Amino acid sequence: MDLLRIEGGPPLNGVVRASGAKNATLPVMASALLIDEPLFVENVPHLEDVTTTNVLLAHMGVSVTIGDYMVVEADASTITQCVAPYDLVKTMRASILVLGPLLARHGEAEVSLPGGCAIGARPVDIHLRGLEAMGAEIRVEGGYVKARCARLQGARIPMDMVTVTGTENLMMAATLADGVTVLENAAREPEVIDLANCLIAMGAEISGAGTSTITIRGKKQLHGARHRVCPDRIETGTFLVAGAASRGCVKVTHTDPSLIDVVLAKLAAAGAEVTQGNDWVQVDMHGRRPRSVDVRTSPYPGFPTDMQAQFCVLNAVADGVGMVTETVFENRFMHVSELERMGAKIRQEGHTVRVTGIEQLTGAPVMATDLRASASLVIAGLIADGTTDVRRIYHIDRGYECIEEKMAQLGGIIRRLPDRAPVTARGVSV
Ligand code: EPZ
Repeated sequence: MDLLRIEGGPPLNGVVRASGAKNATLPVMASALLIDEPLFVENVPHLEDVTTTNVLLAHMGVSVTIGDYMVVEADASTITQCVAPYDLVKTMRASILVLGPLLARHGEAEVSLPGGCAIGARPVDIHLRGLEAMGAEIRVEGGYVKARCARLQGARIPMDMVTVTGTENLMMAATLADGVTVLENAAREPEVIDLANCLIAMGAEISGAGTSTITIRGKKQLHGARHRVCPDRIETGTFLVAGAASRGCVKVTHTDPSLIDVVLAKLAAAGAEVTQGNDWVQVDMHGRRPRSVDVRTSPYPGFPTDMQAQFCVLNAVADGVGMVTETVFENRFMHVSELERMGAKIRQEGHTVRVTGIEQLTGAPVMATDLRASASLVIAGLIADGTTDVRRIYHIDRGYECIEEKMAQLGGIIRRLPDRAPVTARGVSV
């Protein structure tokens, strides 16, 4: 395993380029299972989760080639098995996204239940109930979802919680169903819209993507397509928060500021000068310490839960007290105890943390626990006094493309080193 060794230093200043969105790329790759012709995908980020999805698709007999762009060729005649095994699914929960397409195109699927993760139990009951409403026979045996259906039927599916991948799974399944499917209380995330655009390019008939009611008129067959993945709004926001927390000036290009207007409003409230164009956005603190801001996460278009940890760090060094409330996941404050090791003054009160800003954090060895917590620890290390070692950075490699190179472009002093810490019998680095 590696670690990131970070020397706290000067304000971050400069320009970085946003990569394609991880959370758009994964469902788009899964959608290739709906067609027998090649799917050409552009702007694919180079991430562990994308590699894992490649391995998962290859396990089924799908060929994925990557050059200037990715070509996913899921010719039905080459599909050898409609199975997503536990050893792959446990490393990436989004593997559940193959369930809908496999069932819709091949009439069967056997997908390991993802199980929980650091941030919560993360059940998939809404995915399964939706597929049952479309006529699928679903059994859960031995930790696997075993689903069969000759042909899915269109249905009205009210979802009792807003679920991003649940909406995406059911939307993909409905594209080949017999009849019309209406998803109610659907997720409105930009990545859902991006997937819908890809499916429409394949010949699917979808309306309402981006609203809470999505209508899909099933077709007998879809065809190959070319799709360019939207920019990663969470990566964009992460670099902007790094700039603000360090009192610097950071510009992110090849992105779409309209996807994070709620985050930009919070950065402006923290005292940043925010400027933007069609495909770029800049945050400039003019050397000033940020002001504390209150944040409450909720499904899009609310404040994204994937930006919550980053704003805990901003508040940790801001002037004042910031209240951060997490409403989407039940355990998404794993970064708090690590930030406290760096001197942060944070008190958890149920689903809210009260962050009292201090002038500067102090470097320390810390442990990454999940993807976005890892990013918040990197930001903390860049603004702390002294050296910070962030361990278990495989979490961060899942969702951030070359984070150390990009942070170094901004003046960050950050190196990837082998983690030679002795590992206890329990596999814990000491
Ligand atoms: C997606 O996860 C994202 N992942 C997450 O990003 C993101 O944090 C999350 O949406 C919320 O925006 C991908 O798109 C690959 P949910 P997802 O289903 O779809 C409950 C990152 O860091 N729920 O929207 O798994 C669930 O427990 C990752 O990039 C059910 O109860 O999240 C949660 O409390 C982390 N039953 C809430 O809904 C279900 O069947 C929202 O979860 C499904 C979800």
